[in-house]
Amino acid sequence: MTGKAEIDTHKIPSHVAVIMDGNGRWAKQRGGLRVFGHQSAITAVRETVEEAAELGVRYLTLYAFSTENWNRPALEVMALMQLLVHTIRQETATLLKNSIRLEAIGDISTLPANCQRELAEAMELTKAGNRMTLVLALSYSGRWDLTQAAKRMAVDVASGQLQPTDVTEAVVARYLVTANMPDPELLIRTSGEQRISNFLLWQLAYTELYITDVLWPDFRKQHFREAILAYQGRERRFGKTSEQIAVS
Ligand code: IPE
Ligand code: IPE
Ligand code: MG
Repeated sequence: MTGKAEIDTHKIPSHVAVIMDGNGRWAKQRGGLRVFGHQSAITAVRETVEEAAELGVRYLTLYAFSTENWNRPALEVMALMQLLVHTIRQETATLLKNSIRLEAIGDISTLPANCQRELAEAMELTKAGNRMTLVLALSYSGRWDLTQAAKRMAVDVASGQLQPTDVTEAVVARYLVTANMPDPELLIRTSGEQRISNFLLWQLAYTELYITDVLWPDFRKQHFREAILAYQGRERRFGKTSEQIAVS
């Protein structure tokens, strides 16, 4: 068991992103419907949010629904949207109490109206939260993000607000929906799948990847701490040599 004592409190990643995967397989193992897996995943969300806040993580981004997830059976999509509304309604008070600010990234306008309303309300209520920002990626994909950024840059160039020669990496980053967040230092993916699934493509350029076989509904504080500990054991070189890193 990874205890808190093993974790170096001076080396906590400021931004952790999570691909919460394996709900369907978890339910199947129990002879249940996929929706049962989604419903059973709320505890994992709660524990992860609590532990991240307790360890001092500043941004926690949860991949809750991808652009491609719209292609799932309509009933499953509907159940996920209902669960989202229900969960936000149920958890807002806890977020408020713990000074956690709720944010959302993605093509939010494509969500059902009641989801959008619930999200907007919760974001407004929690906007003063300064302990941690919980970012829900909803109807999000990395390619969507890069495309909306390109579109908005093109509009600004056309109107003369942006000069093509002024486009730097920092400018591109400002047009992404993650403009005000640091890039994630750590990405956790559950259920053993070794892919990015169109998550934060630009932002993950130098992120440490941590993949666990644990299915998302089984994910607990202990697993989150294991991921943080693994991250703390990594050498982040950013293209340099190991020797250069040792002296800096
Ligand atoms: C993750 O679990 C939840 C969402 C993508 C919304 P899955 O539903 O993808 O579960 P598996 O991967 O089929 O087991
Ligand atoms: C990624 O999981 C999206 C979310 C966790 C929301 P998927 O289950 O949709 O990914 P693939 O299809 O296995 O790559
Ligand atoms: Mg999956």
